[in-house]
Amino acid sequence: MTDYIESLNWRYAVKKYDPARKVSDIDIEKLKEAVQLSVSSMGLQPYKVIIVEDKDVKEKLADAFSGNDKNLAVAASHIFIFANEVNVNEAHIDSYIENIAETRGIAKEDVSGFEASMKGYISSLTEEQKNNWTAKQAYIAMSGLINAAAVLRIDTTPMEGFNAAGVNEILKLEEKGLNAAVITTVGYRADDDASQNLKKVRKPENELFITI
Ligand SMILES: Cc1cc2nc3c(=O)[nH]c(=O)nc-3n(C[C@H](O)[C@H](O)[C@H](O)COP(=O)(O)O)c2cc1C
Repeated sequence: MTDYIESLNWRYAVKKYDPARKVSDIDIEKLKEAVQLSVSSMGLQPYKVIIVEDKDVKEKLADAFSGNDKNLAVAASHIFIFANEVNVNEAHIDSYIENIAETRGIAKEDVSGFEASMKGYISSLTEEQKNNWTAKQAYIAMSGLINAAAVLRIDTTPMEGFNAAGVNEILKLEEKGLNAAVITTVGYRADDDASQNLKKVRKPENELFITI
């Protein structure tokens, strides 16, 4: 646990990447596994993660980013776009139920109660509520990426400084039923990124926690 807390103290939201350093394929696989293992409400994982390593696509995407996020998009080794399912529907749940049955070697009927409760839940939501809910799940997955990367001493920047419609257009996400919810650039900090020397600012424990 000490190591984990050390990793969380090591990380910070990088403001300048070393463009010459690439994250290895082996490490990218580890990061993908961490994202894959993320918790999600009901286990549905109502999102996809688009990983961009192509220089031209990174440059195109930068047009949809604002401020310094533009520079981060171009200089980072990889960009992970967490895209939530838009208007999640029964087909998503059917495919999840099939996965459960196949993975656990059980009949789909064995989880029919779970299926009905999931379908009941999503049918009780408006389209806007569904999209908020799936976007929240995407954010949780992003958190898993950032913390796993820190353990591997790989740098990241979580970001919301982008125009979702622009990213959706560039990556043709709408036609895949997806929407760019949140993005994380991944790479290695530049030696002269001054942010690495800043002390972490966090609420003191007595303001953050209420123990009852
Ligand atoms: C959802 C989310 C969106 C963020 N958006 C940006 C961003 O667009 N650009 C950026 O440089 N940092 C962004 N940040 C980084 C935060 O500013 C940073 O995590 C926070 O100030 C704490 O500092 P630390 O991560 O360096 O410890 C974002 C963080 C989160 C969680």
